[in-house]
Amino acid sequence: MEKRKLLFATNNAHKLIEAREIAGTDYQVISLQDVDLDTDIPETQDTLEGNARQKALFIYDKTGIDCFADDTGLEIDALDGRPGVYSARYAGEGCSYDDNVQKILEEMDGVENRKACFRCVVCLILDGEAHLFEGRIPGEITRGRSGDGGFGYDPVFLPTGYTMTFAEMPAHLKNGISHRGIAVSKMFRFLVSV
Ligand code: IMP
Repeated sequence: MEKRKLLFATNNAHKLIEAREIAGTDYQVISLQDVDLDTDIPETQDTLEGNARQKALFIYDKTGIDCFADDTGLEIDALDGRPGVYSARYAGEGCSYDDNVQKILEEMDGVENRKACFRCVVCLILDGEAHLFEGRIPGEITRGRSGDGGFGYDPVFLPTGYTMTFAEMPAHLKNGISHRGIAVSKMFRFLVSV
């Protein structure tokens, strides 16, 4: 049987690889490149739910193809939940992943409470209707960078119960426990149930 196609509304190559690993055998996750769509995707809302919905609807309106988008925030207790929904541009417009990590390490310098959580919301648009799925993983912010895998804040995020940061973990281990892994798996479980 031919796999059903599901478009991932993202320009992030790391996220695409992760979702393809999680998709399993029933679904083929296709990219914006696969449908010849080269576009910036707006994310101007002030919640993860709002941004995930905005991104997915934007791509659905352009393509008419069933699709999903995610939005993720790193919520740090000692920073009152920051960077949260502003995780991508925390160190300023046009900043790099490393700029963001540096800003976090500086703000957390000398701070004892290092508890944090990654929260991800996935919005699936199926036959024009939106469905939301959430994934969370608790952990702590390390005092320095470790590992060179993954992306974003991975080198400074140590998930609870593990001795490796996300950036030190093999991809399949991160995908099995991560915020996005959890949310995307929930979405695929929903898809096989409808
Ligand atoms: P986005 O808006 O969902 O792309 O996520 C916002 C920012 O959160 C990204 O630019 C990354 O810096 C960070 N982020 C998202 N997912 C992850 C992850 O799995 N590991 C580390 N950082 C992430």
